[in-house]
Amino acid sequence: MLYAAGVPDEEAMQKSPHVGIASAWWEGNPCNMHLGDLGKTIKDSVDREGFLGWRYNTIGVSDGITMGNEGMRFSLQSREIIADSIETVTCAQAHDACIVVPGCDKNMPGCVMGIARHNRPSVVVYGGTQRGGFSKTLQKPIDMNTPSEARGAFTLGTLKDWSKDGKYSAEEILSDIEKHSVPGAGACGGMYTANSLATVIETLGLTLPGSSSAPAESPAKLRECERIGETIRICLEKNIRPRDLLTKKAFENALVMIMAVGGSTNSVLHVLAMAKTAEINLTLDDFQRVSNKTPFIANMAPSGKHTMEDLFNVGGIPSVMKLLIAGGLLDGTAMTVTGKSLAENVEAWPSLPQGQEVIRSLSNPIKSSGHIEILRGNIAPGGAVAKITGKEGLHFEGKARVFDKEEFLCTALDKGEIPHDENIVLVVRYEGPKGGPGMPEQLRASGTLKGGGFTNVALITDGRYSGASHGFIVGHIVPEAAVGGPIAAIRDGDIIRIDAENNKIEMPHVSDEEIQERLRAWKPRRLPVTRGTLAKYAHLVSNASEGAVTDLF
Ligand code: FES
Repeated sequence: MLYAAGVPDEEAMQKSPHVGIASAWWEGNPCNMHLGDLGKTIKDSVDREGFLGWRYNTIGVSDGITMGNEGMRFSLQSREIIADSIETVTCAQAHDACIVVPGCDKNMPGCVMGIARHNRPSVVVYGGTQRGGFSKTLQKPIDMNTPSEARGAFTLGTLKDWSKDGKYSAEEILSDIEKHSVPGAGACGGMYTANSLATVIETLGLTLPGSSSAPAESPAKLRECERIGETIRICLEKNIRPRDLLTKKAFENALVMIMAVGGSTNSVLHVLAMAKTAEINLTLDDFQRVSNKTPFIANMAPSGKHTMEDLFNVGGIPSVMKLLIAGGLLDGTAMTVTGKSLAENVEAWPSLPQGQEVIRSLSNPIKSSGHIEILRGNIAPGGAVAKITGKEGLHFEGKARVFDKEEFLCTALDKGEIPHDENIVLVVRYEGPKGGPGMPEQLRASGTLKGGGFTNVALITDGRYSGASHGFIVGHIVPEAAVGGPIAAIRDGDIIRIDAENNKIEMPHVSDEEIQERLRAWKPRRLPVTRGTLAKYAHLVSNASEGAVTDLF
């Protein structure tokens, strides 16, 4: 079999390490479409070391393309299938080492969970961020967010005004923007989930320095791929395994980095999942503790204006690490795949230059603490996750309007049934890991709330919400409605209080006894999916506070 696959002789077969190279490659998504090519460059570098590199693919799902439709239910479970694939091929084929090449949101934790499960020497190579585009009709840079803003302006009839000289029709401007906002390969350009997780994974020491900020189509990304053979040799020689790097110290560092750069709230779920897989005791309370002490310093989309490419141009994530190590926030002694510590890796890296506007100094942060707040209370005894940048305030109280799926809220919004003149807390439930199934992002509803100018509304859910969501939104409520969590006991008209200052989410006028009484009358619902991959997922998945992993029994 191995001769047929190209191995030249028995000596190579017996003595050369077999190195699996798993790309989350597929053609139909800019985040993934180049990962097969990166895998080829990586294989060449592995071959140059005299090793046997074996390329293969995992699956992948585009979070951009599935966003807001039924396909989104498959997104989170794709993370588990990626981890399963990597574990399966590595163990079945007795590979000695593993290189993983993720590119889109769920690819990132999926790959790390795969290598943490098999725990053989491994390196992660991030596919990289996308470059920004340029609009000829507007004569200015545009990015992946411009099309949705342009579509809104087109609907309102104001898009033609975007062109200064009035030379182009609204249709021409819209078409130009849609065709050129994402000019090639790479993940969504702001500090969205893929770039956030890439930053986390670099901070965990699993990549070469600079992997998370080097754009997908940059020479820096190719140079990184060309160095991977040498890196995996170091890991094999020194027997550096994923769980040697995935320590509690490394996860503490990862949490600091998430807070400093304003990483996506999805990072909470995925970092918990990676830690669970590596059998590290990390909890929601660790996020709150680190959030309380870490200044938020990155002026990056979605809350700010810059992209990962902008950060790359001023030094990239290694320069941010350098800043955080110097400030005593990151522990530079954590080890990495280079065989050196984080501090040693970034020692020769340039510091962030004077005058750049992407990363603030530690003494002049955007906010003195992190943007992620962990809330608990009689609605979420197992925890909930809120993104609080301060713009939306710290307190909200209103009457509950309950929806047993996001689609029912969307219908109510479309029919104009949500008033603008009283404080309302929209409760969207049965959208958790089991109940969704797949914990879909409440994107349509939060988009409509923003577009409709609802400043009197908060949204709470046992599902997820997108990093691009704005306003008072609390997600990841545990336990979820599908398992009889207290969120299932909320009734229309109950008063709900969200207090981000004291980290509370509660029904102040409903006693614990009353909640228990209501839950005694509650009947479990039949899962919306009863066969196939989502049904398997719904039966196996753990709660969101445990990372929604599927191998915890
Ligand atoms: Fe892949 Fe955004 S759709 S990173």
